[in-house]
Amino acid sequence: MSSETVIASLTAAVDANPGDVPLRLHLAGLLLDARRAGEAIAQIGQALARDPADAQAQALMQRALGGGVPPAGSTATPGPTPPAAGAADDALAAYERELSDVVPPRFAPAADEPEPVRGDSDRVFDVETSTVRLADVGGMTDVKERLELAFLGPLRNPELRRLYGKSLRGGLMLYGPPGCGKTFLAKAIAGEMGAKFISLSIVQVLDMWMGNSERNLHELFQTARRSAPCVLFLDEVDALGHKRSKANSSSMRTLGNQLLAELDGVEGNNEGVFVLAATNTPWDVDPALRRPGRLDRVVLVLPPDAPARTSILEYHLRDRPIANIDVRRIVAATEDFSGADLAHLCESAAEFAMADSIRRGEVRMIEQRDFERALSDVRPSTRPWFTTARNVAMFANEGGSYDDLVAYLKRRKLL
Ligand SMILES: Nc1ncnc2c1ncn2[C@@H]1O[C@H](COP(=O)(O)OP(=O)(O)O)[C@@H](O)[C@H]1O
Ligand SMILES: [Mg+2]
Repeated sequence: MSSETVIASLTAAVDANPGDVPLRLHLAGLLLDARRAGEAIAQIGQALARDPADAQAQALMQRALGGGVPPAGSTATPGPTPPAAGAADDALAAYERELSDVVPPRFAPAADEPEPVRGDSDRVFDVETSTVRLADVGGMTDVKERLELAFLGPLRNPELRRLYGKSLRGGLMLYGPPGCGKTFLAKAIAGEMGAKFISLSIVQVLDMWMGNSERNLHELFQTARRSAPCVLFLDEVDALGHKRSKANSSSMRTLGNQLLAELDGVEGNNEGVFVLAATNTPWDVDPALRRPGRLDRVVLVLPPDAPARTSILEYHLRDRPIANIDVRRIVAATEDFSGADLAHLCESAAEFAMADSIRRGEVRMIEQRDFERALSDVRPSTRPWFTTARNVAMFANEGGSYDDLVAYLKRRKLL
């Protein structure tokens, strides 16, 4: 068997048994031999996340980061051999000392920690759709509750639905500053619902379907109707039916009208189709979209409050080797940060620790000081949104559609 084949079958075995650390490290060793350091580091990182003090994992990481060249032709199974002597030993001992009295509650109780995803896809903002679950979405308790009551609950309980004569249709529009998890929440719902979730970004539609948009939008709704009960997610709805007339807007307007017709179910029965829409700029959304029976419920998705920030940080650190992180401090320093800003903060801290490890040829965990550094770089991105939102709340709150926003701005003394 070639080493490629061995690696492929070991990878499958590790995916099937994510908790088998020796197997994972064996795979990492082979990846290193095959000069696939990037993949090896991802594997070792996951082993370290489970046990930051694992000497074998530490030694392998050292090697992966250029600390040692594998002997030619060796199959370098990381055996139970101790890591390099001397400095590395001291460093290890130091970690162990440090970890023994700190052991920051390593976040969420193991039981509801999501299974680590493969490779380092968790490092990229966009986690694979199917792996995100509602429990991974920090905060948003109100939003989740509304979704639960309006759709997910009735979906699970057909008996109750019959009893109350509740139909399974309707629409909800999420709005709020960018990066606060609207799209992420939709992905989580997709993760819960599997094939019963159809997602589409209006911007994509406009790009991809030039000229054919209306027919395709109709087909999309037809697919949703056939798959009912299902959720149809329309991201960036502001791109459609702009209130303000724009150049070249006639094709947009027809597409906007088509969307209204589909939402009304003019050409088909929308029973069982729940439309979830999202926008960062609700003031650009055609008010006609919000009439009863369409996207009539509107939910404001705010920057995460302190408990939500805690869980968002936990989520983004779950697979990373960390030591002695003072989450409360980070949470206190990140008012107004969006979920995306927090993800970016974790990313930056990890980069600092890794750059330092490479520079010193010695692996170390991500520590509080990396976060302090990252905090001086990363700024909250939500403020400009609130500047616009404030004007809208002051001058354009017709019909009270922005009451939630007004209440929030007042609470924050921004209005
Ligand atoms: N509530 C949250 N919990 C966990 N991660 C979040 C949350 N909100 C945002 N994020 C992170 O920020 C990224 C961007 O968020 P996104 O959903 O695209 O924002 P929006 O659609 O509101 O502009 C997400 O992919 C996720 O990594
Ligand atoms: Mg989005």
